[in-house]
Amino acid sequence: MCGIVGYVGPATNTKALDVVMEGLARLEYRGYDSAGVALVAGDRVDVRKKAGKLANLVGEIDEHPFTDSRTAIGHTRWATHGGPTDVNAHPHRGGDDGKLALIHNGIIENFAVLRDELQAQGVQFKSQTDTEVVAQLLGTLYDGDLTEAMRKTVARLEGAFTLLAVHADQPDVVVGARRNSPLVVGLGEGENFLGSDVAAFIGYTREALELEQDQIVTITPEGATVINFDGTPATGKQFHVDWDAAAAEKGGYATYMEKEIFDQPQAVADTLLGRSNAAGDLQLDDLRISEEQLAAVDRVTIVACGTAAYAGMVAKYAIEHWARIPVEVSLAHEFRYCDPIADEKTLVVSISQSGETMDTLMAVKHAHDLGALTLSICNTHGSTIPRESDAVLYTHAGPEIAVASTKAFLGQITACYILGLYLAQLKGGSYADDAKQVIAELQDVPSKIADVLSDVSRVREVARFMADTRSVLFLGRHVGYPIAMEGALKLKELAYIHAEGFAAGELKHGPIALIEPGQPVFVIVPGPDTPHGLHGKVVSNIQEIRARGARTLVIAEEGDTSVDEFADEVFRIPHTSPMLQPLLTVLPLQVFALELSTAKGLDVDQPRNLAKSVTVE
Ligand code: F6R
Repeated sequence: MCGIVGYVGPATNTKALDVVMEGLARLEYRGYDSAGVALVAGDRVDVRKKAGKLANLVGEIDEHPFTDSRTAIGHTRWATHGGPTDVNAHPHRGGDDGKLALIHNGIIENFAVLRDELQAQGVQFKSQTDTEVVAQLLGTLYDGDLTEAMRKTVARLEGAFTLLAVHADQPDVVVGARRNSPLVVGLGEGENFLGSDVAAFIGYTREALELEQDQIVTITPEGATVINFDGTPATGKQFHVDWDAAAAEKGGYATYMEKEIFDQPQAVADTLLGRSNAAGDLQLDDLRISEEQLAAVDRVTIVACGTAAYAGMVAKYAIEHWARIPVEVSLAHEFRYCDPIADEKTLVVSISQSGETMDTLMAVKHAHDLGALTLSICNTHGSTIPRESDAVLYTHAGPEIAVASTKAFLGQITACYILGLYLAQLKGGSYADDAKQVIAELQDVPSKIADVLSDVSRVREVARFMADTRSVLFLGRHVGYPIAMEGALKLKELAYIHAEGFAAGELKHGPIALIEPGQPVFVIVPGPDTPHGLHGKVVSNIQEIRARGARTLVIAEEGDTSVDEFADEVFRIPHTSPMLQPLLTVLPLQVFALELSTAKGLDVDQPRNLAKSVTVE
């Protein structure tokens, strides 16, 4: 949702504004409907803020420059309470002396009660935000010690929040607090940083400190001090960030999304790296859960949202097939309401790129309360969901900046395969032998992904040609079904086109009525060697829709000539075993959505109304 940056450097240092603006540029993907900065300047805190993208804030600062400072906080917003206006943009001031400013990510659930209370004390509000209520509360509680005022403030708050505050009377201090919302500390030499994620300060340091739930951190140029909300001392957990600033740049591509699509061979290779030994057995040393516990698992429930949930649907086919354990996939925001059945033999697997999706986090907490084992598949080190889970399997896709998920999705599917194969390996016998074969085959997938991506010119041409299309359908069976849904989601969110993904077998139960002459339909064809005659069934589906006038855009294996006769376009993928096909079939669909969105002149990296990590329910 919102992006947050804080910085404090030594007295001689005047780069606070540059550091914070650079951090905001890297975090803009988290929310981009307004942005603002507060700098400590002598006995005041100066604030500039502006609705719209970060460029508007840059313009505002050019028009009304700041004086140099060594201490600053900055914010990019995705509006929840109060529309995206200049006034509602963060930072918000507390008190009436212009000395205190605060930024916030999350939602304060009891803000109305607190606002009434403060109004009764004579406080006047300028904005409609819950954040200003916190800023004013902090202002009334400040008595010379910002950390102590923050401690008293958070004691009054209900909801989810990351807060950062500065006060002119303590010019070498930034105080942060977090509950159910992300905050990471960056540890520099004589300077320190705070950020919603490490991207905020990756240009300056790769040493970071992860905070627990309900903690307050005070940074000064010399260090970072952590306490719990009850005031007891605490220590954060230090970690090294295994990617650098270059990984978070566009690297010559026009958009982050395009770069991230082309990062995918590496994302899959890195997620596989170091996870099997010379004998070809999986070794998951970093899992934080014992083999005995996992071997006892008799039911798996996957919780996730959006694209991550489609990775979960692929996982269902894979885990049930390889490990013969029943798997259920639940949209995380529905999980709690279906009165789920889970006990200590249930493994609840959450899948999340950001590790901060509130719906998914709440599902994990609920699973915990039910006594289930929880395992997080996550791309963001130090984020909340892995910390709240018993076990973690990190995907190593690197930073994903574009709002629409691409390489994280492939990382998630790869991690799901690893999990399914590991469960099979733990079962032993023929399960383990099968698993070994697939593990070996997976090693070849990154080069097959690179092959597909080396020639996507025809997909691009077709997409450009279809820039005026109003509706696109996607069909698949088995693991092609979630990929059909993912193809549709990419098109909806990037090109704002009506798109639906269906299980191809469902066609005749209703959706075939949508087919009229010219209707474009992508069809994902399983390889000819897929069991249960699945290939032939999908080829029949192509014929059914072609006979009704559909324009068929077919994704099929190299050498599968059986589709040629019924396809208006064929996009080829290399042969692979049926279960691994999603890592290849999704690629043309990602490129198609990217190119169509570009052809329509839309913002590929920051589509309207969306935010990268959805930290509200
Ligand atoms: C779509 C997309 C979203 C996310 C979903 C979950 O391109 O990116 O559907 O997959 O919001 O986000 P994470 O994985 O961060 O939990």
